[in-house]
Amino acid sequence: MVYIFGNWKCNPTNLKKAKEIFYTIEKNFKGNKKVNVAVFPPFVFLNSLNSEKVKKGAQDVFWEKQGAFTGEISPLMLKDAGCRYCLVGHSERRYIIGENNEIIEKKLRSCLENKIVPILCFGEREKVSFGKVKIEIKEQLKFLINYKSFKNVILAYEPVFSIGTGLVCDTSHINDVLNFLKNELNIKYKVLYGGSLNSKNCQEILEKCDINGFLVGGASLKTREFLKIIEIAEKYAKSKEK
Ligand code: PGA
Repeated sequence: MVYIFGNWKCNPTNLKKAKEIFYTIEKNFKGNKKVNVAVFPPFVFLNSLNSEKVKKGAQDVFWEKQGAFTGEISPLMLKDAGCRYCLVGHSERRYIIGENNEIIEKKLRSCLENKIVPILCFGEREKVSFGKVKIEIKEQLKFLINYKSFKNVILAYEPVFSIGTGLVCDTSHINDVLNFLKNELNIKYKVLYGGSLNSKNCQEILEKCDINGFLVGGASLKTREFLKIIEIAEKYAKSKEK
């Protein structure tokens, strides 16, 4: 199974456009047992976008179920809006909003308790030596190490210098990170790659890295581009069947 997940971030600015993007993908994606397609739109659009084939996720969640928490969205609300997935710890929330590991762990636990699959994002902030990368990643994934109860988490490796910059990460570096995870974590998690992913670079990553799919940002808002990535993933999954 190849996962193709689209993180819309704070886009688009109106429901009409959100529907246009969502239903263009929905119409053109035939549905396929080998490729799992999901999009992560802003909260306000979630209830208006529905499909059997294209799944939905949220970009964030609060850890309590309900109550006096002004501005927050609870996991029960996400379930009610049809979300199967939720991003947790995206670098834009870590470094722009200021979320720390303590908050991220609460959100992760809340997703799991409420049967939402969390996509835990992690990745180094800058291009530094691999020794430093390991320290940074280990800190971000601290609470996964030694916990068996976290087995339903999907990881998304997103080096910050690759996000939205056009500088896709080297496949050899992705592989170093994947090997590091294999050694450090006692569960084999599914791992997605994210960061300037597009239809031109996705094939090489699928072929050279033992990756389960992608978390696509900018390219997920361009329907033709996103559909092309899905098509490449479908072909790749099919070739693996033989
Ligand atoms: P990008 O974003 O594909 O636009 O680089 C990826 C992400 O932030 O999830």
